[in-house]
Amino acid sequence: MTKVTIVKRDGSEQQVDADNGVSIMEAIRDNGVDELLALCGGCCSCATCHVYVDPAFADAIPAMTEDENDLLDSSDHRNELSRLSCQLKVTDALEGLRVTIAPED
Ligand code: FES
Repeated sequence: MTKVTIVKRDGSEQQVDADNGVSIMEAIRDNGVDELLALCGGCCSCATCHVYVDPAFADAIPAMTEDENDLLDSSDHRNELSRLSCQLKVTDALEGLRVTIAPED
């Protein structure tokens, strides 16, 4: 279990215990936060699981693939902290991670 803090669109925060091996998208969704559409179910083809990742964890998360990069380009809300949460697996290295749900496109 890894503790992850989710910052919702209204600014409220929820701390969840995420199982290692699930994606951040699944951890968000499975803990009752319904702000991520995650339309493609985690196949990296919809970009509706867009989050901003705490820059302190930049070295702990996997590098972005070309597909993820292309999809994020379709968002009006992309910034340097943007990632698709379905592409981020929960590991011990993410203990204390803070992710902010991006505005809806
Ligand atoms: S859930 Fe579709 S890209 Fe992440």
